[in-house]
Amino acid sequence: MPNRVIAVDGPAASGKSTVARKLAAQLHYRYVDSGALYRGLAWKTLALGRNTASPEEVLDTLGMMKVEFFEADGAVRYRIDGYEPRAEIRSESVSSAVSSVAAMPGVRTAVTQWLRDMVRFGNLVMEGRDIGTVVFPAADMKFYLDASPEERARRRHAELTPTGDAADVNRVMSSLQSRDRKDSGRATAPLCIAVDAQVIDTTGLTIDQVVAEIAKRSGG
Ligand code: CDP
Repeated sequence: MPNRVIAVDGPAASGKSTVARKLAAQLHYRYVDSGALYRGLAWKTLALGRNTASPEEVLDTLGMMKVEFFEADGAVRYRIDGYEPRAEIRSESVSSAVSSVAAMPGVRTAVTQWLRDMVRFGNLVMEGRDIGTVVFPAADMKFYLDASPEERARRRHAELTPTGDAADVNRVMSSLQSRDRKDSGRATAPLCIAVDAQVIDTTGLTIDQVVAEIAKRSGG
């Protein structure tokens, strides 16, 4: 039987990552954070002192770097040129560059292929923006998580503050909204709800309530 895929899509800070990670652990599936790959490419481009708004420079970086995938702690992770970037890819400079990198069609083709190839690791819970629409249109289950902009900004602010990034909630909200606009407005694989996705508004719900709801709907 081919490996199963559960797609969890939605806008920035809608709770996708935490929910998808917990769901994967509960179902004994591998967790995949597709956004981390776009972030990794943006990080590498910046680290080389290159321009993340230039498709030539970004695609050249993509062509030069060696990416390896491996499984650890129930997730599929990656190294770029032998190094695994972790906290670096969550920095404000990467967050503000990533949406323009992710809008480049050549980047999407390469990342989509990497993501599809990950079924070799086993059953997957994959989170992102276009997993149920483009990467795995035939996914076994598709969820689209959303939350109010205020709630999303509060959640992201709470995540950033312990790392010392003293962003205020309003600044976080405007950065999330600008990324959402770019992600929804781009020509290739924009953020949108798959026709067969189950939409869950997570505003006011705890992570465990959302995980329980999804697990119930996916028979887990
Ligand atoms: O965690 P957060 O919601 O802030 O974002 P992320 O999942 O780490 O994704 C970072 C960025 O990568 C998004 O804003 C999109 O521009 C891009 N992305 C994408 O285009 N397609 C995906 N499947 C996942 C992420």
